Amino acid sequence: MDFLLLLQKSLVALFAAVAAAIVVSKLRGKRLNLPPGPFKYPIFGSWLQVGNSLDHHDFIKYAKKFGHLFLLKMGQRHIAVISSPELAKEVLLTQGKAFGSRSRNIVFDIFTGKGQDMIFTDYGDHWRKMRRIVTVPFFTNKVVQQYHGDWEAEAAEVVEHVRSNIAAAAAEGVVLRRRLELMIYNNVYKIMFDKKFESEEDPLYVKLKSVNGERSRLGQSLEYNFGDFVPILRPFLKGYLEKCKEVTRRRLNLYKDSFVEERRKIALVEEEKDKNRVKCGIDHFLVSQQNGEINEDNVLYIVENMNVAAIETTVWALEWAIAELINNPETQKKLRAELDAVLGPNKQVTEPDTHKLPYLQAVIKETLRLRMVVPCLVPHMNLDKANLGGYEIPAESRIFVNAWWLANDPARWKKPEEFRPERFLEEESNVEANGNDIKYIPFGVGRRSCPGIIMAIPIMGITLGRLVQNFELFPPPGQSRIDTAENNGQFATRMSKQSIIVLKPRNIA
Ligand code: HEM
Repeated sequence: MDFLLLLQKSLVALFAAVAAAIVVSKLRGKRLNLPPGPFKYPIFGSWLQVGNSLDHHDFIKYAKKFGHLFLLKMGQRHIAVISSPELAKEVLLTQGKAFGSRSRNIVFDIFTGKGQDMIFTDYGDHWRKMRRIVTVPFFTNKVVQQYHGDWEAEAAEVVEHVRSNIAAAAAEGVVLRRRLELMIYNNVYKIMFDKKFESEEDPLYVKLKSVNGERSRLGQSLEYNFGDFVPILRPFLKGYLEKCKEVTRRRLNLYKDSFVEERRKIALVEEEKDKNRVKCGIDHFLVSQQNGEINEDNVLYIVENMNVAAIETTVWALEWAIAELINNPETQKKLRAELDAVLGPNKQVTEPDTHKLPYLQAVIKETLRLRMVVPCLVPHMNLDKANLGGYEIPAESRIFVNAWWLANDPARWKKPEEFRPERFLEEESNVEANGNDIKYIPFGVGRRSCPGIIMAIPIMGITLGRLVQNFELFPPPGQSRIDTAENNGQFATRMSKQSIIVLKPRNIA
């Protein structure tokens, strides 16, 4: 009965909205010089033809038809997609301020308290303040100097963990991803809370991983797009949004009760002894709270942001790198040969060593080129109407820069479909991951670019280096390759299946 009533109300609303939309679009459409795009119906825009699923591969198809800048009208949302280096430069650098806000969606609004965080907030004073507050404890060279010993110790523990059951790892294989995830959690939680989880069974770790995993699934899913695009369909999403609210409550409470308050108490005791004592990230955030720069919610949202931005991205990038090393055994051998030649038989790779290992660096770059974890960057947004490439971009458009295409366009890259790290030592030897060349921006470039690059690359180098130094990596028994099918979410791409990896100790056939 309730459902029938809802349906009836929706149909009446739909009818009224169609009529209104036709009138409004007739009045408005003529005045704006919009970029080209697929045919738009009233209310639904192009959603009826395009559907819920939108990834970097779909965008390439539309770009071939409509050009380097096209506009999708998806229900009420305008989505502008950029597919050329020139326009990418315009959006991220030249007009970086105008396009420097973030497009949120109905689900991310719940996760971030409508942008009280840093990653999904508009460009402006709040973002600047938040970014400044997280930079000191997380994103400077000093942090790398201070913590690389911990990253090396964590990678050594991964190696020991595999060794402790080497018979199984060498015969049936293991889902290495799970252990790597613990390692990345420890790397991030050490900096943020001076905290370490001893094992995958640690009850707090289990809880944390579970709520973060739920949030990731709910946020990355494409199935809620219809309600985000077409507001009159939103009532059908009620259950989904309730679940998002409930998960958000549980997550923020867990961060607060088990980590932030814990650390607040420790900091108080330590402050008694040493007035200037600021040990880890959260101490910095709490000082900013005490100074009145940010409030308690902002502190929790910073913690939430770091859980999202730092952990999955790095774990997924490592998974892709391992898969490519297995599917390209010659590359794996060449990398091992470099490690042996530069470090000798007894030295395990450290962060300072990674700078002397150009092939290792090239493997990381090539992974992030072919298997870009965030292929269209985190969607940007223009708060006000803007001009781009001779067209007008309506205010509050969602802007996707197809960074994957820029790094995989055959017009700009030699055989881009091949995993060939050598390209970064040969024809692309000047291209760095920091955005010095706009055709390769796996971490973005400009104001909203990823500050985590400073730790992501060393952590990847140390981890991959140690794995390849200690083991030979193979696909699961009975398979000749790792299955690299993709799972594309709202803006991240990961491997669809959590792969089993066979690890044999070096020199044992
Ligand atoms: C391989 C690992 C990683 C990749 C590929 C990656 C990629 C990205 C990309 C593409 C963006 C959006 C850039 C844009 O929209 O212009 C981003 C934003 C961000 N990343 Fe990363 N990231 C990684 C690791 C990390 C780590 C380890 C951290 C933190 C410790 C981090 C923190 C952030 C933050 C805070 C933002 C938002 C910046 C802002 O809005 O001002 N990321 N990342």
